[in-house]
Amino acid sequence: MWKNIKSNWPLVIIMMIILVVVLSNIITSTRPSTKEAFSASLDDSVWVAPSLYYDDVEGEERKKIIYGEELIANTSIYLGPKGSVAQISNGMNCQNCHLNAGKTNWGNNYSAVFSTYPKFRDRSGAVETIYKRVSDCFERSLNGTAPDSNSKEYQAIYAYIKWLGQDVKKGEKPIGSGIEKLPFLERAADPIKGKQVYTSQCQSCHGATGEGQLSLGGNSFEYPPLWGQHSYNSGAGLFRISNLAGYLHSNMPFKQSTHSNPKLTSEEAWDVAAYVNSQPRPSKDLSKDWPDISKKPFDHPFGPYADGFTETEHKFGPYKPIIAKQKK
Ligand code: HEC
Ligand code: HEC
Repeated sequence: MWKNIKSNWPLVIIMMIILVVVLSNIITSTRPSTKEAFSASLDDSVWVAPSLYYDDVEGEERKKIIYGEELIANTSIYLGPKGSVAQISNGMNCQNCHLNAGKTNWGNNYSAVFSTYPKFRDRSGAVETIYKRVSDCFERSLNGTAPDSNSKEYQAIYAYIKWLGQDVKKGEKPIGSGIEKLPFLERAADPIKGKQVYTSQCQSCHGATGEGQLSLGGNSFEYPPLWGQHSYNSGAGLFRISNLAGYLHSNMPFKQSTHSNPKLTSEEAWDVAAYVNSQPRPSKDLSKDWPDISKKPFDHPFGPYADGFTETEHKFGPYKPIIAKQKK
């Protein structure tokens, strides 16, 4: 063998040169050199979050964007019960529900926020700005109070959300924005079946009593709470079972499920959502919500309603008859 190589050495060297050239071509072609090449290398049917690595935004604006992303990812460290800036929220992070700081498709991302706000929303019966929408999540999902609109913190969150949505045309919603809409069950969602799903698929991280698990320093959660006094309140978006089920189907169990490869069936997602949203949690005065009661979503669990269905039917379904009647 060695003899063979020795006698054919010019051929061996040529082969090795070819190999090096081919390999280096493969490497440079898979590492995009510009922002455009980066975007083009991905499937263009879904949204691609911008990256500061490729973006030339400079100075104060860049600092604001970085701080804004940090606040979304680690809200509790700055604004939680032991927050270093203020103590105005429940210990959860925005990112617990807006995964990867609002960049994950089907993970309740922020791709359509800058393009669609200000907009009229039925819940408040008014035109809402981005500030109002962010405040809503502070007051409901984080069961707290919002930072002032002039504060460095709100300005940073705004800069980050604006930057994230910069490539989305006004009025447009990219595929994968927000939360997956699951097909409806023919029956009502069942908290008893959901409890079994919870025990086998969720409890290992979120705990037997849904209280989550604090991280080592104790000023944020490693596994966020799903109910109890540190969880989202009764006015939060996830307290609607369709939102929770859709979020779970694409994203939980965490790091095992994806939108294209979910671990829960839709039936399991509806049932476990019914179970989680039947547990105790902080309540919020919702008397000012949905000033036009006929605009309440099919799964809003608090009456009065214009359609004659009960609170239990609205909360758990079956939803098809409710939607059919609302359409009339
Ligand atoms: C407990 C889960 C949860 C947490 C924590 C949370 N949110 Fe939300 N947020 C939601 C849900 C669910 C929706 C969608 C509600 C709906 O469509 O009814 C939403 C919607 C939004 C929207 C509007 C999105 C759109 O496309 O219209 C913004 C902006 C937002 N949240 C910002 C924040 C910020 C900032 C924080 C942290 C201060 C935060 N959220 C924390 C669950 C959460
Ligand atoms: C492997 C651990 C793990 C498992 C198993 C798991 N989760 Fe989670 N879950 C997480 C983590 C971590 C987050 C927060 C993600 C982040 O902040 O990036 C989260 C976030 C959530 C949230 C949004 C935040 C909140 O606290 O309300 C809900 C709701 C949720 N999980 C429900 C479930 C349900 C229901 C199951 C079972 C079907 C489940 N999870 C299984 C780790 C897990």
